Amino acid sequence: MIRGVIEGTGSCLPEYQLTNDQLEKLVDTSDEWITARTGIASRRIAGPGEETSKIAAEAARRAMAMAGVTAEEIATIIVGTMTSETTMPSCACLVQKEIGAVNAFAFDISAACTAFIYGLELADNMVKAYPDRKILVIGAENLSARVNWQDRNTCVLFGDGAGAAVVGGDDTGRGVLATRLFSDGRLGDLLYMNAAPSMNPHINNPYEKTDPAEAEDFDPARLGFPRTDNGSYIKMSGREVFKNAVLAMEDSIDKVLEDAGLSGPEIDWILPHQANIRILHNLGERIGVPKEKIFINIHKYGNTSAATVPIAFDEANRQGLLKKGDLILTCAFGGGFTWGAEIIRW
Ligand code: ACO
Repeated sequence: MIRGVIEGTGSCLPEYQLTNDQLEKLVDTSDEWITARTGIASRRIAGPGEETSKIAAEAARRAMAMAGVTAEEIATIIVGTMTSETTMPSCACLVQKEIGAVNAFAFDISAACTAFIYGLELADNMVKAYPDRKILVIGAENLSARVNWQDRNTCVLFGDGAGAAVVGGDDTGRGVLATRLFSDGRLGDLLYMNAAPSMNPHINNPYEKTDPAEAEDFDPARLGFPRTDNGSYIKMSGREVFKNAVLAMEDSIDKVLEDAGLSGPEIDWILPHQANIRILHNLGERIGVPKEKIFINIHKYGNTSAATVPIAFDEANRQGLLKKGDLILTCAFGGGFTWGAEIIRW
């Protein structure tokens, strides 16, 4: 049976690191609160030249280099994002131009933090139909451009980054074993972001952002980050989202394990969406997977939405943690609500 297998991974994080200590000067918060409640110590903030499509393209180049695939060989580019610098062209088309993937067709998917797993499922089905095709699946966000820097409930949580994977067809038993995807639009009010055309002068235009590295203090207003009166930033009922996230991810994991004929303790690595370290430890306990098998990098990057899962894949891969034949579980939960889980034999 042909399955989608990840042949190469890549990631790209903006240079500038914004620490919890710096955020203490911006809103009524503390390093202690952020670390204890979320596990986040710092996050990356994109500056000029690090727009969503640019970091997505760099992550893609690194994934293609690892896979030994040229841009001309890429048949499809799928980008999961909700923070592209343009609504049209799609971020995927910007990436196509940037990397020179002249033979590909390219499109974005909007599924918040679950977008990369949605993309992997599409890629898996595409290579089942066309096993020789190489598909780039990317998750990339510039969330710093879309948070309210005066809202301590959200601004401490998010960061910018991109991750990518090259997916190809394989008939040796490796690849995607099972996937379960869900959404429930009825709960959308608990976590949402209104539409905002990025070139509107009244809202943030990432192209005009000053480089945060050049500023003495991180001053969102002066750096051209979003105004707080336009309503187009992320709004979240954190506690409600937390409860829903734990239950929904546990349910999707139970279902995907059953589909694959596996149990929690058989999983070698969980490479999950990174929204809150407490959610991840809670999940591990519920499904019987010890903490040591849950890959965590939220302390470095915060929640980069669609990018967290591919960045986790790339870091775990480059650290040599993933061995051929390992059973990997990934899962995510995000605005929409959207959620899902997937099991991959590495
Ligand atoms: N610093 C200090 N205090 C804070 C901060 C802060 N940054 N933020 C909130 N507080 C306060 C609140 O005002 C509240 O005070 P009160 O009790 O006086 O009202 C108190 O801390 C507790 O607030 P809670 O919201 O109950 O805190 P909680 O422990 O739930 O943590 C958090 C909040 C981190 C947001 C958590 O609920 C969470 O992680 N939720 C899920 C996030 C998630 O999974 N999102 C989905 C993906 S994101 C996407 O799709 C884009």
